[in-house]
Amino acid sequence: MYADAEALSQEACTLAFERISRAMQSRRRAVVVLSGGTTPRECYRLLAEKITEARIPANGFLWIFADERRVAVSHPDSNEGMARRLLLDRIGAPKHTILSWRADGGDPAACAQRYRDEILARMGTEGKPDLVILGMGADGHMASLFPEGRAVLPDGREMPVQTGIPSETAAVYRAAENEWRLTLCPVFLNRARTAAFLVTGAEKQAALRQTLKGNPSTPAAWIRVEETLYLVSRDAAAEDAPADFGGNIRFA
Ligand code: 6PG
Repeated sequence: MYADAEALSQEACTLAFERISRAMQSRRRAVVVLSGGTTPRECYRLLAEKITEARIPANGFLWIFADERRVAVSHPDSNEGMARRLLLDRIGAPKHTILSWRADGGDPAACAQRYRDEILARMGTEGKPDLVILGMGADGHMASLFPEGRAVLPDGREMPVQTGIPSETAAVYRAAENEWRLTLCPVFLNRARTAAFLVTGAEKQAALRQTLKGNPSTPAAWIRVEETLYLVSRDAAAEDAPADFGGNIRFA
């Protein structure tokens, strides 16, 4: 557990850099899935510095976004826009290394289809992301898999947001907010070699506890990969949280 968000961000950056370096050394490519929100921002800023210092070739990355809002990249709410400002533009990421949802307009299911097709074209049906960086909502959502959301798959099928969504991508409608989101789904996210949740804020305590317990109605609990890490600041960790869960689930 980390004293505060700053300490967590520094450790998250170190972890991300280690996993990226490992991928580059063994496969000469690092596939990284980035989340939006506020928690990962400082990690992204620090990571840009480390990647630049280490002269890691910007050509060697494939950057994927865990989710996106239906806005232009230039919009302040865009997850891609935030990642570009803090990380991708600062390392000079070439256009072909950035997989954009191009989410600003058009049919949400068609957008999810296009992103799925692009991921499959770049990674094949078995391709493994090297690192997935995730946040966690107070309601237990991760990416844009909101417990109350309604998922629309690329082929048009509709279903409640659930762990078994049979697609790498989906559009999610949130009735209360009258908002569409685009999101990756566990089918793809759970192929990752490493998934790292960055969790700060007392309001996340309950969601974190349900996630670690594996509560099936908590979307963040649906992520279990080869190495599932939870980087948690003290204010987000409940007093009774165990220090380690054994296996590949642990506080980093
Ligand atoms: C987004 C994120 C979302 C985020 C959580 C936590 O598009 O906002 O992908 O899933 O990770 O809402 O957000 P914070 O880090 O701001 O608490």
